[in-house]
Amino acid sequence: MRTCLLALLWASLSHCVDAMFLTGRTGVETGREEMIGDGAREGKLLRRFKRGWMWNQFFLQEEYTGSDKQYIGKLQSDMDKGDGTLKYILTGDGAGDIFTIDESNGDLHANKRLDREEKAFYTLRATVVNRNTGKKLEPETEFIVKLHDINDNEPKFAKEVYTASVPESSVIGTSVTQVTATDADDSMYGNSAKLRYSISQGHPYFSVDPDTGVIRTALGPGEMDREKREHYQVVIEAKDMAGQRGGLTGTTAVNITLTDVNDNAPGFSQNMYQFSVPESIKAGHPVGRIKAVDKDIGKNAEMSYSVVSGDGLDIFDVNTDRNTQEGVITVLKPLDYEKTMSYTLEIQVQNVQALHTHSQGTLPTIATVRIDVEDVDEPPLFERASYLMEVKEDAALGAVVGSVRAMDPDRTNSPVRYSIDRRTDLDRHFNVHSGNGSIFITRPLDREEADWHNISVIATEFNKPLQASRVPVYIRLLDVNDNAPMFASFYETFVCEKTKAGQKIQMVSAVDADDPVGGHKFFFSLDTEGVYRGNFTVRDNGDNTASILTRRSSYNPLHKSVYLVPVVITDGDFPMQSSTGTLTVRVCTCDREGNMELCNAEAQTSSAGLSTGALVAILLCVIILLMIVVLFAALKRQKKKEPLIISKEDVRDNVVSYNDEGGGEEDTQAFDIGALRNPEAMEESKQRRDIIPSDTLYPPLRRTAIPSQDNADVREFINQRVVDNDSNPTAPPYDSLATYAYEGAGSVAESLSSLGSASSEGDQDYNYLSDWGPRFRKLADMYGAEDSDRDS
Ligand SMILES: *[C@@H]1O[C@H](CO)[C@@H](O)[C@H](O)[C@H]1NC(C)=O
Ligand SMILES: *[C@@H]1O[C@H](CO)[C@@H](O)[C@H](O)[C@H]1NC(C)=O
Ligand SMILES: *[C@@H]1O[C@H](CO)[C@@H](O)[C@H](O)[C@H]1NC(C)=O
Ligand SMILES: *[C@@H]1O[C@H](CO)[C@@H](O)[C@H](O)[C@H]1NC(C)=O
Repeated sequence: MRTCLLALLWASLSHCVDAMFLTGRTGVETGREEMIGDGAREGKLLRRFKRGWMWNQFFLQEEYTGSDKQYIGKLQSDMDKGDGTLKYILTGDGAGDIFTIDESNGDLHANKRLDREEKAFYTLRATVVNRNTGKKLEPETEFIVKLHDINDNEPKFAKEVYTASVPESSVIGTSVTQVTATDADDSMYGNSAKLRYSISQGHPYFSVDPDTGVIRTALGPGEMDREKREHYQVVIEAKDMAGQRGGLTGTTAVNITLTDVNDNAPGFSQNMYQFSVPESIKAGHPVGRIKAVDKDIGKNAEMSYSVVSGDGLDIFDVNTDRNTQEGVITVLKPLDYEKTMSYTLEIQVQNVQALHTHSQGTLPTIATVRIDVEDVDEPPLFERASYLMEVKEDAALGAVVGSVRAMDPDRTNSPVRYSIDRRTDLDRHFNVHSGNGSIFITRPLDREEADWHNISVIATEFNKPLQASRVPVYIRLLDVNDNAPMFASFYETFVCEKTKAGQKIQMVSAVDADDPVGGHKFFFSLDTEGVYRGNFTVRDNGDNTASILTRRSSYNPLHKSVYLVPVVITDGDFPMQSSTGTLTVRVCTCDREGNMELCNAEAQTSSAGLSTGALVAILLCVIILLMIVVLFAALKRQKKKEPLIISKEDVRDNVVSYNDEGGGEEDTQAFDIGALRNPEAMEESKQRRDIIPSDTLYPPLRRTAIPSQDNADVREFINQRVVDNDSNPTAPPYDSLATYAYEGAGSVAESLSSLGSASSEGDQDYNYLSDWGPRFRKLADMYGAEDSDRDS
């Protein structure tokens, strides 16, 4: 039912199906009547009614500033007969507060000033009741109070200051940025929210699109030059009412920066640069710096320099210092004032980045650089970097080894003096002629001592000793055969008593300090002067070794125990050198395999012979050991125990210490070792040494003799000693322990003492050796034979 009513209201047509009928007097009069459906209201008379309520939405001016309440409109019901029985009631948004209704006649008023931008419309409901009965005469109906917009809001920009940038030299109309403003007024109604943009500051460089707010450049590339002006502040105004007079405005500032493009070519502010360098400058060192100017910044100002022409084209180079963008001229090759005194270069500068199409360059890109070489007083210069000389080691004193030569490179060409750096020739083997640079030998040379003499020759200018330079001179000594060959080591061997003739007993080789070109070649032979030449032979093996061979089948050590075989060694060089080496051959007895078994005593001592040095060392050791022993003995004697009780009278007054630490096994003073030695000595019989023994306290213990056949003579011995002691008038006044060490008699092993066995070696009879088996046969032979020799 209600929805039906609403639909009627909104459609401005009244189709009431209710039993009631209302006459809308405020709204549009409707004369249509309608039959409503049957069945719905049973028992009621169905008739056509005139329409009741009828009103459209009400409109209200926002921001009303009048003094009294603003009249909105009038609600009227057809039931209202004007007799005051009806009462209008208003509910909904702001009812009673913002909006009030005259209860009696339905006049609607607004009490307050309203803002559309705050709330654009209010929904209210109205009804009519009987004032007396309170009965609802009409159904509640809803209506809307809409606020009419007025232009009470100015346009607002999102930011107070915008920042933007655009490359310099951009074409006209290049978009820089867009600014937009908003207007709170009703955009659907009137022009209150229709904005137009205009530029109020920033002419003539920039323009703004009136509708979109897009800012564009307004001047051509020539005018928009960062190098002239970089920063612009543009003020944009937005005006509502489509920009008409009376519209409200809002402004914003736009900070526009022109960004750099490479529109300036670098160039030199000077046409000519001049530098001077000493001729001594090292290759790679800088000569000077030049700098071109470029109005651009950053990457657009990076420059590269190059030498394009000039007579110093291949002698100098130019590179860019990346930090300062300067061109650094460096020298590539050594300079010589005496040859070229000055150079000219043409140096070009360019940007590393490509230039912009609208670029301009007013300065020349090529500059001339003149480099003057300054004369430097240089030290003498040797003809060569080093000298290699060779000389025979036996060259005579004063012989010339070679010559060095140096010149003063300066114009003056002053004479040069030569000298040898003595630190490189400490032994003064050489000297140099100070005038012509010839090197002489001043001391005999020996290749075997030093085969190289690497010296340093100094050349100084005659008048300026500080102008000096030096050159290494390598002098190699050439070998001369001035050393005789010798045995490679000391050779010593043996020969068996019974051997074969032609048996090889030793291999010998030789050494020679000389260093012949083709290697060593040694020859060996037996010295023909030798006394025993018939007993051995020398066989030259042809490979710088020789074998010593026996010549006899038996050598008797009794006739000759050591043979000294002289061997002559010769080298094959010129002048021929030779020496005689001696081989020591001992005669020994050998077993069947030829292994040495025993050598003659003379030979043995000689082989086991100690050097005098070793003997002295051993002697010293012995002396030191002896001294240590003596020292120990002396110390022991000093440490002898003091008696614990000095005299009888002091007993009570003295503090007696008992914590006496024994001296170990070796301390024979601490306890009586005799008690241990005697098998019969009893513990109880041990005397306390710290107190005076008394008869009452310590009755002397009688040893009970254990009868034993084996100990018979011991018992006898002890008894004898007891009697002796008892009858001894010099015995101490108190009981003391008497100990009797006794060694039994009848040991099978006789005394080991050497004193008794005085028989000398010479008196020995070695014949029993032959009974001891084949191992001792040789000994028996030797000693037994000697006896028989002597006998015979
Ligand atoms: C805009 O430019 C003005 C004047 O050049 C300056 O004072 C202001 O700080 C700039 N504002 C911004 C946000 O860059
Ligand atoms: C230099 O002078 C010395 C002595 O007068 C002479 O023996 C030698 O040959 C000279 N050397 C040269 C290269 O002339
Ligand atoms: C001397 O120089 C030579 C050649 O350079 C070198 O072989 C030799 O070892 C050097 N001798 C000394 C002692 O410096
Ligand atoms: C061999 O040596 C003995 C000495 O044992 C000597 O008497 C003898 O002359 C030597 N033989 C020859 C041939 O020289």
